[in-house]
Amino acid sequence: MATHPELVSGEELERELGALLDVERFEPSAEFRERALLKDPAIYEEAERDPEAWWAKQAGELHWFRRWDRVLDDSNPPFYRWFTGGQLNVSYNCLDRHVEAGRGGRVAFHWRGEEGEEREITYAQLLEEVQRAANALKGLGVRPGDVVGIYLPMIPEVVVAMLACARIGAPHNVVFGGFSAEAVRERMEFSEAKVLITVDGAARKGRTTPVKDRVDEVMGDLTTLQRIVVVRSKGVPCGMRAGRDVYYDEIVEAAAAVCPPEPLDAEHPLYILYTSGSTAKPKGILHTTGGYLTGVAATHRYVFDLKPESDVYWCAADVGWVTGHSYIVYGPLANGATSVMWEGAPDYPNRGVWWENIERYHVSILYCAPTAIRACVKWGAEWPNGHDLSSLRLLGTVGEPINPKAWLWYHKVIGHERCPIVDTWWQTETGAIMITPLPGITATKPGSATQPFPGVKAEVYNERGEGVRDTQGLLVLRRPWPSMLRTLYKEQERFLAGYFERFGRETYLVGDAARLDEDGYFWVIGRVDDVVNVSGHRLSTAEVESAIVAHPEVAEAAVIGQHDEDTGQAIVAFVTLQGDLEGGESEREGIRATVAERIGKFARPKRIIWADDLPKTRSGKIMRRLLRDIAEGRELGDVTTLRDPVVMDQLEQRVKELQAQET
Ligand code: WTA
Repeated sequence: MATHPELVSGEELERELGALLDVERFEPSAEFRERALLKDPAIYEEAERDPEAWWAKQAGELHWFRRWDRVLDDSNPPFYRWFTGGQLNVSYNCLDRHVEAGRGGRVAFHWRGEEGEEREITYAQLLEEVQRAANALKGLGVRPGDVVGIYLPMIPEVVVAMLACARIGAPHNVVFGGFSAEAVRERMEFSEAKVLITVDGAARKGRTTPVKDRVDEVMGDLTTLQRIVVVRSKGVPCGMRAGRDVYYDEIVEAAAAVCPPEPLDAEHPLYILYTSGSTAKPKGILHTTGGYLTGVAATHRYVFDLKPESDVYWCAADVGWVTGHSYIVYGPLANGATSVMWEGAPDYPNRGVWWENIERYHVSILYCAPTAIRACVKWGAEWPNGHDLSSLRLLGTVGEPINPKAWLWYHKVIGHERCPIVDTWWQTETGAIMITPLPGITATKPGSATQPFPGVKAEVYNERGEGVRDTQGLLVLRRPWPSMLRTLYKEQERFLAGYFERFGRETYLVGDAARLDEDGYFWVIGRVDDVVNVSGHRLSTAEVESAIVAHPEVAEAAVIGQHDEDTGQAIVAFVTLQGDLEGGESEREGIRATVAERIGKFARPKRIIWADDLPKTRSGKIMRRLLRDIAEGRELGDVTTLRDPVVMDQLEQRVKELQAQET
């Protein structure tokens, strides 16, 4: 085993990281391998020989009220059905069965608030609160199949609300707390949510912002939304409309303590989660009960090598994204894990707060986004070096490609060269991790998500749908898997066209470019559609464009993702104003404010470039490819199809001017 190295920083660290750049593969230590849940590579062959039997074995780890008749019904691709005839309840699997087995006293969450407040929630307490909340929802008229919206910050009630929905078979529709009220409204409208659970106010870096009042400003005329439940979290006074609005604590306290879990069909909808696609309208990804829970529980156990009796696990994502759904809530709870839940940002009250949390709760497994790691690299090794990180034994990343430098820093400064790193590739659509190392088996290569999880079949295709190696192509998944999306909510045609048209109904088109190397390792490069990934937040360029043109002075806008050292990609907007308006700093601020209002602050463009005209084809289609070339300073591609090639000169000039100003 590697001995605890001297903690280094500054130039010395740079030198040591530089030396590591030459290491091609990182093997798990003999000690890690010895104790790992999976250490025999034969597991891959076992799953490959009979994928259905492999997944059935994973499903068998869950509690079923009625066992399934058939593992996979693939009679009508891509409308796959898993574990048909089976009945189960997700909240029963996440709570009751642990309590019944005598583990009710185990901590489910160590919650920590921004100001240092703490709440420790055991499995028994969580079960009690979930039952009451489920009864309270029933009391509001929520029936199986009714959609419940959830717009909450990182407080324990968000977990309670999700599990209460799962208990009574009401699919939830969680909206990330960073989205604006307008974006929430849109998602409530599309999903026809009957109830919305929200909060009085939310804390962010020492400031409390009103949430319920913002929601009220936009929700008034939405007739499908019958009730709003308000969690009192920060004591922010808010207006309550009689007959519609109720306080969470009041209805939960008044509710009966016992709510038996509803036995639900394996294909009963568990949740809808809106994510960005190629158009401005978000896609409602639909996940169901049995297959989803099987996928998240199995991957959470094996990818994180979880030992629920001794590990303390921390996924530092927000519960409002799929990572939070699968790896803060459902996977960890199904496996009886003890987790940390942190309310705030990584740099408040100071840049060492993450490492303080790790020391405080003896975190052994940390799962976070490369963006966060890059920020920590920038802030300096002094922050983590000031804390005892010896409890850590495994590290993970998700959400975007990780650059080797950040990977090595994570490996050395956080993992002290002792912890394997699992770079996990997956999507909202896949529900669970798809390409990943198994930490006791796989030798990792910095920047590669390595290999498909057992039972998953991934390939890289060329344009003609032939498998290719050693060259960039389109990532596809060639076989159904239990946690796959079932459809896009109320948009079946879009589901088929987006994922199962290009290469036929049995091949799932991911939307990412990737390369498969000579050892069969996958290197995911990034999106090939108009989806951008800013700090691990998935956004569509069309969505941002439509927000920008809502600004009264804007005539037209084109948005692209530009490579960015800190955030992975940054949003750059090329904007044409109305008439003869001249754009300046105040217009830029106005546009950013409009985007914040329509989508959320995280979607604000980093750069806004004024354009008299945008590069268009003769049929009027904006050529974003050329804008990307300009923004990244590349040689311009073919411009002959442009209606007016002269516009490119002006834009190139403007980009150069802006860059000069920035440096
Ligand atoms: C990207 C997040 C490289 C990818 C779980 C994918 C990654 C999109 C990785 C999905 C990774 C996610 N390496 N790229 N390890 N993980 N991505 O739906 O482009 O928010 O298609 O799900 O993130 O983003 P989503």
